[in-house]
Amino acid sequence: MPENSFQFDILTLFPGLFDGLRNESLLGKALASDVLGLHTHNWRQWTTDRHNTVDDLPFGGGPGMVLKPEPILSCLRELTPQRAAKTPVVLLSPAGRLFRQELAQEWAQGPGLILLCGRYEGFDARIEQHVDHVVSIGDYVLNGGEVAAMAIIEAVARLLPGVIGNAASLTEESHSSGLLEHPHYTRPREFEGEPVPEVLLGGNHAEIDRWRRRQSLLRTKLRRPELMQGLVIDKKDRTWLDAEWAALQAAAAPASDDRD
Ligand SMILES: C[S@@+](CC[C@H](N)C(=O)[O-])C[C@H]1O[C@@H](n2cnc3c(N)ncnc32)[C@H](O)[C@@H]1O
Repeated sequence: MPENSFQFDILTLFPGLFDGLRNESLLGKALASDVLGLHTHNWRQWTTDRHNTVDDLPFGGGPGMVLKPEPILSCLRELTPQRAAKTPVVLLSPAGRLFRQELAQEWAQGPGLILLCGRYEGFDARIEQHVDHVVSIGDYVLNGGEVAAMAIIEAVARLLPGVIGNAASLTEESHSSGLLEHPHYTRPREFEGEPVPEVLLGGNHAEIDRWRRRQSLLRTKLRRPELMQGLVIDKKDRTWLDAEWAALQAAAAPASDDRD
């Protein structure tokens, strides 16, 4: 394991699910070049009974099976001394704190991440005392933590030096400034009757920057209004946004004849 490279350790009952991530795309290249490491640990191997049991019935009754605490904790205890001291241990759960870009940025500063992927009804609650974070990737329920772990791996890995070719693209993206990113266009100049906005073709960079900033504000207000809270907006941009918003509302409102 090369020094200074970022290490992802995934505790999972389905390590094969990570093969695609290992072999394809930018992440595959980064793994091959030692910028980062990705290690899977099937904690079934830390079971001690003859049937390699990882789950059991829930106390109190109810549907489904609960992941037993002993094998995953044994696996974690064997692994943590081999990793840098400040490596966060993250348990994946739909009942966790929401994973956001700020957290990806914070974790990308560290030496690595240990991700615990659940299955079935999830882990015995006592496992939570042994982790640093309980994290959800969104308000929906997946069958297992592996896809959630992959989302976190991609979000963190692309922030590491040397993973993305053009580092400037990272600072301009959705959520890096608290807003959603402006729309993008490429050739052809006209597609199925829809032209590219004129301002993007003129080469005036100040105008292009202003157009992008304002589109970013409008898109955020339309799609994720909660992100606008507490945002400081330049007076001219605010006037533009209010006028654009009023025009959109007027266009969406039914004509007075329709209301009768
Ligand atoms: C079927 S889920 C368990 C759901 C759990 N009974 C609940 O209602 O909170 C099985 C596993 O998938 C993972 N998982 C499911 N949805 C997730 C989400 N939104 N974010 C992170 N992990 C998730 C977790 O690791 C979880 O232990």
